[in-house]
Amino acid sequence: MKADAFRDQVAIVTGASSGIGRALAIQLAGQGAKVVLAARRAGLLEQVAVACRQAGGEALAIPTDVADKDQCRALVEKTVAVFHRLDLLVNNAGLAVIARLEDYSDLSLFQHTMDVNFFGAVYCTYYALPHLVRSHGRIVAVSSLGGKAPFPYNSPYIASKFAMHGFFDSLRIELQRHGVSVTIICPYWVVTGFHEAQMDKDGVPRGARGRAIYSKNMMTSERCAQIILQAAYQRQREVMMGPGRMIAWLKLLAPGLLDRVVIAFLKATVRREQENALRSQA
Ligand SMILES: NC(=O)c1ccc[n+]([C@@H]2O[C@H](COP(=O)([O-])OP(=O)(O)OC[C@H]3O[C@@H](n4cnc5c(N)ncnc54)[C@H](OP(=O)(O)O)[C@@H]3O)[C@@H](O)[C@H]2O)c1
Repeated sequence: MKADAFRDQVAIVTGASSGIGRALAIQLAGQGAKVVLAARRAGLLEQVAVACRQAGGEALAIPTDVADKDQCRALVEKTVAVFHRLDLLVNNAGLAVIARLEDYSDLSLFQHTMDVNFFGAVYCTYYALPHLVRSHGRIVAVSSLGGKAPFPYNSPYIASKFAMHGFFDSLRIELQRHGVSVTIICPYWVVTGFHEAQMDKDGVPRGARGRAIYSKNMMTSERCAQIILQAAYQRQREVMMGPGRMIAWLKLLAPGLLDRVVIAFLKATVRREQENALRSQA
């Protein structure tokens, strides 16, 4: 990919206030793109907009809750009103809740996860579509390896990511005739604010404890953003990071074995979280 592959292209990045979305926005701006930043935290978005301008691009922050259809429509309308076109939509906004289904007092957090992770992407894509057809543009859907494999205590998140695959895999075929590409990204763990923001069954974020699962060699948001932009530029179908290919094959050939691998992985993660938490207290 050339260093200025996205020069003068207009891109919307949802979930741009932190983590992978923030890194994507700054890298796009560094290539000379005009970047529209969407997320709920307006103050953080403005800071990312400043970083984008310093990187060499134009940036417009539009505070948006992607769970709200009308706000997604307004996001696209304002983008086109200011920049007159749209070339790239990155559906990246996402969150997760960690709880057993039986422990929820009601299903509002389950619904909310679907509303943000799945319907947020559907709304933005729907309103962006006429403009992307006009520009023969690109859609990126940031899913997860959780869109490929089961993971206990995480069922709303996993359901929302599986739903993204069904939707975007189908849409890719519909959009072939318009020359609009759909690239699904399945990151493995990336060091961001994601695990701090993860909520428990009552909607309380895990906070600093969420970071205790990280180990030294985990991917940075900057590296993840590089991989995403390269894949979007090349109009790749899907990118699986980390053990993604192994998971996909296991699911196909030995789903029972995959369940056992997932449980072993979960136990190792809980152990690492406890060890890291103890170390940080010492
Ligand atoms: N980090 C990982 O290990 C990992 C692994 C696999 C997949 N992913 C996926 O990567 C994507 C980005 O996550 P991240 O790791 O960069 O986490 P992050 O740092 O927590 O970023 C999540 C972003 O989503 C935004 N968001 C949440 N709810 C929103 C809403 N209702 N409307 C608009 N924006 C909303 C947040 O902004 P506001 O709070 O300001 O709204 C934030 O900018 C997510 O889709 C996640 O599922 C992450």
